[in-house]
Amino acid sequence: MKNFGKISLSALTVAALASAALAASHGGELPASVKARQAHMSLNGFNIGVLAGMARGKVDYDAEAASAAAKNLAALAGMDQSRYWEPGTDSDSLAGTRALPAIWANPEDVASKAAALADATAALAGTAGDGLEALQAGLGPVGQACGACHKAYQLPKD
Ligand code: HEC
Repeated sequence: MKNFGKISLSALTVAALASAALAASHGGELPASVKARQAHMSLNGFNIGVLAGMARGKVDYDAEAASAAAKNLAALAGMDQSRYWEPGTDSDSLAGTRALPAIWANPEDVASKAAALADATAALAGTAGDGLEALQAGLGPVGQACGACHKAYQLPKD
């Protein structure tokens, strides 16, 4: 009985070590700063998805919904995001993030790309409720602002 207890305990230990190793190989628990920036980006993605669906005619244009999603994007772009980009949380240092080390080498360019998004989303927030054509015209520059930063600073998906 004693012996059995010992064996199952060491079996448990092995299982715990194995799952710890698995977690480590997947990057383990991501730092809160990484989770926060990914959550912020998910909110960007969700809101732009609402607008893109209307702009492409997949969903009927709805002035109120368009305006609300555009205002959400502008509010997100206006948030202070400086603490998201914690040193040591780049894609070379951690698994589970696609934030390239170049972000930390080019803070001024990153800030200017974030400012370009803030400008484009502020403009769209003012016009997205004015009809489908206004939405389509204003969404282009927003998509370009997202894309310019991803092209420079987001590790491509493999
Ligand atoms: C200033 C640079 C910058 C701008 C502007 C930007 N992004 Fe990102 N985005 C990133 C980086 C860097 C990542 C990778 C973050 C990570 O994995 O830690 C990312 C990741 C994402 C992701 C994946 C999130 C996840 O769960 O891993 C989505 C979706 C996204 N962005 C959407 C958008 C949209 C939509 C816009 C425009 C409205 C936008 N982003 C604007 C830099 C930017």
